[in-house]
Amino acid sequence: MADKKIIAVVGATGAQGGSVVEAILADPNGGFAARAITRDPAKDKAKALAAKGAEVVQADLDDVESLKKAFAGAYGVYGVTNFWEHFSGEKEKAQAKNIADAAKAAGVKHVVWSTLEDTRKLMAADDKRMPMLQEKYRVPHFDAKAEANAYFAGVPTTFLVTSFYWDNLYMFGLAPKKGADGQYEWTFPMGTSKLAGMAAEDIGKVAYGIIKAGTGYVGQTVGIVGENLTMTEMGEKISKTMGVGPVRYNAVDADAYRGFGFPGADEMGNMFQVYRDFENEVTAARSADVARQLNPQLQNFDQFLAKNKSKIEPAMNPA
Ligand SMILES: NC(=O)c1ccc[n+]([C@@H]2O[C@H](COP(=O)([O-])OP(=O)(O)OC[C@H]3O[C@@H](n4cnc5c(N)ncnc54)[C@H](OP(=O)(O)O)[C@@H]3O)[C@@H](O)[C@H]2O)c1
Repeated sequence: MADKKIIAVVGATGAQGGSVVEAILADPNGGFAARAITRDPAKDKAKALAAKGAEVVQADLDDVESLKKAFAGAYGVYGVTNFWEHFSGEKEKAQAKNIADAAKAAGVKHVVWSTLEDTRKLMAADDKRMPMLQEKYRVPHFDAKAEANAYFAGVPTTFLVTSFYWDNLYMFGLAPKKGADGQYEWTFPMGTSKLAGMAAEDIGKVAYGIIKAGTGYVGQTVGIVGENLTMTEMGEKISKTMGVGPVRYNAVDADAYRGFGFPGADEMGNMFQVYRDFENEVTAARSADVARQLNPQLQNFDQFLAKNKSKIEPAMNPA
């Protein structure tokens, strides 16, 4: 451990950070050690990481001093913020600033910052196709992360632009479910556009690839995807791999989706509308080839489904 370069991983108990820790632990001779950051080292996921060989350290994204301590002595940092815990673009930016400030104070050599694009640049300020949210954002969890990129000025950073996780099928309740007529169905405001998606675990593997490749990636923006697919194409693959009948795709209007009323419906409505209306821009900003160079195990949707069948099946058939 002593001669290994430490990577301090924010969000280590979550999907993204957890995948970074797993990627590091899966390569014991790679020269890197994982320092898993959590607010609560006593939680089961943190204990499981410790049992697998990660160093578990307590810190809070709202407390920059705790981050400075957690990053001390580290070679690298994986930085991610969790918008969905508080739904606030401003808070997400403040937390990202704390990551950047702490990384600078600790003098780390390489930060991989998990960011997304500024969707406001895709349309004019007076464009009425979707509402502004939180007064100044189109898609707060995209736009705030993009704004936060500026905090990393002077910090050796790679800007990792991620894609929609296919894991949302089971993690976020987005899997097709049986409708009143018994047929599986799902509803999105995606029209016939392709959704840029990937397995969450591949984000960690790509991030580790960037860290291993070294500081040549500093200052670069790396956009990654597993595969771009329409909802109909995804439904066909789900139907085939899960062994169920055809999945009916209800292509609703984005306004209707925003009005569904669940927490974050407006945010997700805007996000899917960006994927729909700006399919070319969103897909051009992400590359499966680049992701595969950094992570030769990159999965396509069929491979993801086959690997995660046992998690998706209960999500399609909730009790
Ligand atoms: N879902 C998608 O399709 C998708 C795609 C691209 C990007 N994203 C972005 O991914 C982010 C969420 O990451 P995730 O999916 O990995 O989330 P997740 O699985 O829900 O895990 C959240 C992680 O964040 C940590 N965390 C949250 N607040 C913290 C705080 N105040 N201090 C320290 N750690 C904190 C949690 O650690 P502890 O609870 O252990 O402290 C946990 O490890 C979101 O901002 C989202 O916009 C999501």
